[in-house]
Amino acid sequence: MQEKKKREVIIACDFQDASGVYGFLALFGNERPFLKIGMELFYAAGPDLVRDLKSRGYRIFLDLKLHDIPNTVKKAMAVLSGYGTDICNVHAAGGIDMMKAAREGLSRPDGRDPLLIAVTQLTSIDQRRLKDELLIDRPVSDVVSEYAFNAKSAGLDGVVCSPLEVSAVRERCGGSFVTVTPGIRFSGGPEGDQQRVTTPRAAKELGSDYIVVGRPITSSDDPLGAYRRCVEEFEN
Ligand code: C5P
Repeated sequence: MQEKKKREVIIACDFQDASGVYGFLALFGNERPFLKIGMELFYAAGPDLVRDLKSRGYRIFLDLKLHDIPNTVKKAMAVLSGYGTDICNVHAAGGIDMMKAAREGLSRPDGRDPLLIAVTQLTSIDQRRLKDELLIDRPVSDVVSEYAFNAKSAGLDGVVCSPLEVSAVRERCGGSFVTVTPGIRFSGGPEGDQQRVTTPRAAKELGSDYIVVGRPITSSDDPLGAYRRCVEEFEN
């Protein structure tokens, strides 16, 4: 099992291709920030990019949000476990059996399983969308904490949620359950498509273990400065 390191900034590398991410990482010199690779970059650059970044010493959260029948997810996770990534994830909406299957698929012979976490509700879903579009008539925080409890029951290590839901998750799942929180914006910055947002400092105060920050860093005129600001507000 990977070490459950507490309080760290993860950069969402939502670039179109490998050259975008290598150009971005060149700004960091020898520094090795924790990276998140999501669907856009993975579908463009594939396993080769993940393996190359791992060989250069980066830690990687491979954010592919698997959601399918248990057998398919188990087999897909067995493939992902070979990449040596540090965090993988599924949608909790796939159910407990699917999450258990993911856990089984991800287990590595050397025992160094990546952390496995579940997306509870996307941080782009607000109360109105939950009710009117997903037809779920419960407060967002209840849905998040109950999906988190399902994830814990299935043997997962934690969840992706908004920092605003961390305390509800902790109350339901206990303090050692990991919370990885996107939806981070600097005060005064644009929110974009995110709905349930906080600043890095507020995320720290609310008890997030990791924050995932994309556009506030990658679209900044000064990405390195924006990353340092996140670290300063969240980690120190
Ligand atoms: O650019 P921004 O900071 O909004 O990026 C947030 C990242 O976190 C994106 O890569 C997005 O896919 C991811 N994410 C999210 N909400 C979730 C799970 C993942 O925004 N619930």
